[in-house]
Amino acid sequence: MSNPSQRNWQPESWRTLPARQQPVYADATALAEAEARLRQSPPLVFAGEARRLKDLLARAASGKGFLLQGGDCAESFSDFGANTIRDSFRILLQMSVILTFGAAVPVVKVGRMAGQFAKPRSQETERQGDQELEAYRGDIINDMAFEASAREPDPQRMVRAYAQSSATLNLLRAFVQGGYANLHEVQRWNLSFARNSPQSDRYRELAERLTDTLGFMEACGMSADTPQIREIEFFTSHEALLLPYEQALTRIDSTSGEWYDCSAHMLWIGDRTRELDGAHVEFLRGVRNPVGLKVGPTVKPDDLLRLIERLSPDNEPGRLTLISRMGAKHIANRLPALVRAVAAEGRNVLWACDPMHGNTLRSGDFKTRRFDDLLAEVRAFFDIHLAEGVHAGGLHVEMTGENVTECMGGAQGITAERLAERYHTQCDPRLNASQALELAFQTAEWLKRERLRGRAEHETSAVAGPAGASSA
Ligand code: PEP
Ligand code: CO
Repeated sequence: MSNPSQRNWQPESWRTLPARQQPVYADATALAEAEARLRQSPPLVFAGEARRLKDLLARAASGKGFLLQGGDCAESFSDFGANTIRDSFRILLQMSVILTFGAAVPVVKVGRMAGQFAKPRSQETERQGDQELEAYRGDIINDMAFEASAREPDPQRMVRAYAQSSATLNLLRAFVQGGYANLHEVQRWNLSFARNSPQSDRYRELAERLTDTLGFMEACGMSADTPQIREIEFFTSHEALLLPYEQALTRIDSTSGEWYDCSAHMLWIGDRTRELDGAHVEFLRGVRNPVGLKVGPTVKPDDLLRLIERLSPDNEPGRLTLISRMGAKHIANRLPALVRAVAAEGRNVLWACDPMHGNTLRSGDFKTRRFDDLLAEVRAFFDIHLAEGVHAGGLHVEMTGENVTECMGGAQGITAERLAERYHTQCDPRLNASQALELAFQTAEWLKRERLRGRAEHETSAVAGPAGASSA
C-alpha cells in the first residue's frame, strides 16, 4: 500500500489490541456467520462519495465552509420508519438553510443516521433493585428491555442493523435526488411545525426571503434551477464503535486500491475509545474515509498531537475532524491550549463543536441537558476560535424532528417537570425541532461574526500593506 497511513495495517489488525466497549458474544459460530453475511453484502456507500466528502471538509477546514453533523443519539429498531427519517432529515435541512443563508457559508450536511446504532456506556452493567444485567449497548448489540435474555449480545442484530441502514440510506438518497431537498421547497419544510412557535415564524421569514432571492435571480436571467439548487449533497456518519461490524463492511476501492469502511461516509472515534494504542484508533487509521475524533476535557495537547499523527500522518486536509465536547464548564480552560497546539504544529484539521455530550445531567429520573449550557458551549467555542485565529468549522448535535421534551429550556421554556411529557429517546436527550432551529439561528450569528471579522482583517491588511502597520 503506497499510503503511509495504511502501512502495516489490515482490516483485522485491531484484533490484537485492547478493544474497549465491545460485547462478548457467547456463540462464536453465530458471530462468524453474521460477519460472513455482512462481508458478502454490498457496501452501503462508495469510496468516491467518501472522497467527495473529504474534499468538502477540506474546504471547510480552510475556512470556506461549515460542517453540520446531526441526528439521533442512537437509532433504534422499534422507532424505524419513513416519518422519523424524513423528520430528522428535514430539520437538518432547515438548520443548514439557516446557517447558509444567515452566515453566507456553504454547509456540509452529514447525518448521524443510517448506521448510528452502537452506544458506548459509562457502566458495564445496569442495576435495578437487586438485579444486575449487562448494560444496553445499542440495538445493533442487545435489547433495551431489562431482562437477562434481552441483554444477551446477539450477532444477528448486526445483520438487521445493516438492513435498516440500507433502507434508511435508500430513502435519504431518494429525498436528496427526488426533489424533496429542492431549495424552492424551503417553505414546505416548515409545514408540519407546531403553529405559532417563535422558531417556526422566524424560519418562515427566512424562507420567504430565500424564495424572494431565488425569484430575483431568475428575474435577472440567472437560472435558479441548477442542480445546486435542486439537489443537495448529503452524507452519513456514525461512531465506529462495534469493530466486527465495521471490519466486515471494509472493502478495497477498485479505483484507488485503498481501504474504505463502506458502512458510512464518515466514521468517528468516541471519547471513551480513543486510546492511542487501542483497537479503535488502529482500525480507523487504516481506512481512507474522512474520520472524526471526539475530544473531551481529559485530552492533553501532547495526547492530541500523537492521535493526530496516528490518524492523519499525511496531514491531508479533510481527513480529520476534531469534535470538541468539553462541556460549558470546562471549554474555556481546556480548549484554547488544544487549538493553539494543533495550529502551531501546522496540522490540517477541521474543528467542530459537540455541545451535547459534555453537558448531560440528571434531573429526577431523566438524563437531560440545559439548552443554555449548550448555547454557552457553542458560544465559547466560537470565541476561542476567533481569539486563536482558527476557523470554528462545525456543529455536531443530537436532535430529532419530533416535538420531544428531552432537553430543558429553549424558547418553549421546557422545565424539569415537563420532561416526562414526551421523553422518547433510547439513549441521550435530543434537541427537539424548535430547539434545533433556535440553536441554528444563534450559531448563524456567531458564524457571521467570524466571517465579518475575517473580512475586516483582510481589508485592514490590504490597506496597511504586508507589514500591517496602520497609523490608526
Ligand atoms: C455520542 O456521540 O453519542 C457519544 C457517545 O459521544 P462521546 O464519545 O463524545 O461521549
Ligand atoms: Co449521545
